[in-house]
Amino acid sequence: MSELKKIAVIGLGYVGLPLAIHLARHYPVTGLDIDTNRVSELLSGQDRTNEIDDSVLKSSSLEITDQVTAIENSDIYIVTVPTPVDVNKQPDLTAVRGASRLVGGVLKKGAIVVYESTVYPGVTEDVAGPELEAASGLICGADFFLGYSPERINPGDKQHTVDKITKVVAGQNDQVTAVLSEVYGRLTSGGIFVARDIRTAEAAKVIENAQRDINIAFINEVATIFQKMGLSVYDVLEAAGTKWNFLNFSPGLVGGHCIGVDPFYLAHSATANGHHPEIILAGRRINDGMGGYVAECIARELTQLGKGAGAKILVLGLTFKENVPDLRNSRVIDIIQALQGRGFSVKVHDAYADRDEAETLFGISLRPSLEDASGYDCLVGAVPHQAYAEFDPESFATLLTADGLVADVKGMWRSLKLPENFARWQL
Ligand SMILES: NC(=O)c1ccc[n+]([C@@H]2O[C@H](COP(=O)([O-])OP(=O)(O)OC[C@H]3O[C@@H](n4cnc5c(N)ncnc54)[C@H](O)[C@@H]3O)[C@@H](O)[C@H]2O)c1
Repeated sequence: MSELKKIAVIGLGYVGLPLAIHLARHYPVTGLDIDTNRVSELLSGQDRTNEIDDSVLKSSSLEITDQVTAIENSDIYIVTVPTPVDVNKQPDLTAVRGASRLVGGVLKKGAIVVYESTVYPGVTEDVAGPELEAASGLICGADFFLGYSPERINPGDKQHTVDKITKVVAGQNDQVTAVLSEVYGRLTSGGIFVARDIRTAEAAKVIENAQRDINIAFINEVATIFQKMGLSVYDVLEAAGTKWNFLNFSPGLVGGHCIGVDPFYLAHSATANGHHPEIILAGRRINDGMGGYVAECIARELTQLGKGAGAKILVLGLTFKENVPDLRNSRVIDIIQALQGRGFSVKVHDAYADRDEAETLFGISLRPSLEDASGYDCLVGAVPHQAYAEFDPESFATLLTADGLVADVKGMWRSLKLPENFARWQL
């Protein structure tokens, strides 16, 4: 068991790259991605997700490839490909199936295939296993074995990194679980938790994210109640947060690849098993409605200030969360489109996002910089990137007209004293 395993990581995105880099400190590791642009970028020593420093990437022993022959003869395959939802909010397992067929094409007897992608319980054994069998001609559980180890990292979070968090692992049998415990045990100092079985490990991951979504939805709902009552939810949360068991969540948009998507995987399981998921889908509805709600509030404030259609709005931040370039499933677009739909002239700046990606994903032409930006009737702080959170009163005076509105969606300027002439709106 302690002989050095040859590992292949399939999918080198936000999850796969850090995992492969850290594993490569202990094992011979090959990372494969089917996106040739991503592979070229990584081979040139640059990670546009900012998860891995260029110097670390360049000095790593990780072999990076888009060639499937390079992952032949691996002992362990770890699959970290996307698991989005389709237009009907149903699990889209295209990448999981594709990666499984790709691995199946080179699978040797005795190998273990581990999935880290977030899925609903049963995907590893009922979807991936048969794909591997079909592509390899081998028998699952006899010739090769399955495992699941959910990924918990958080884009942009430099504290809870893959080498420090507790890793949940589950194997198809005890021997596989022991191998995975050893491999992941070397990777992380956060310890290993062995789940009862693969389905339990899959279920644990999907409820971690669904729970977060529901908690945020509750705060979003009370934020809208308090708006009607003239209270700031942030003031209320500050007071309530002094209770020892009050949970600390803040209001806002829920986007990205995980929290806004994974509850639909859980909802799919519920429906498939004859249960109508109430709270899970209600949470999704509330959170998906927040962008439109925020736009409605801003439009109302602007109208009250006598600034109707044609008023100039600058939205600060387009990514799904602060201090990352990740634009996937960002809900800031809901605010932008709703304001545009009301006839406002909306420009957008983001301190991190890639301009081409913003154009491709949303048709948004980002301002290249804030230099020369001025004369806006309203500034919408949509994403608390550090550069915006550090604004001082002078920044607002430069960007806004004399009687402009500061709309602080995330409460990042709450403690900042603004010149009296500016109006302010926040949740
Ligand atoms: N991003 C996160 O912070 C995070 C955290 C925990 C779990 N997850 C889960 O991890 C999984 C991966 O997420 P991500 O954010 O790393 O996605 P990503 O889009 O950043 O990266 C996935 C990579 O897989 C590649 N890929 C797609 N199909 C492939 C195939 N058939 N063969 C080889 N490569 C393929 C893509 O080109 C891409 O580079 C998802 O299931 C996600 O829900 C993500």
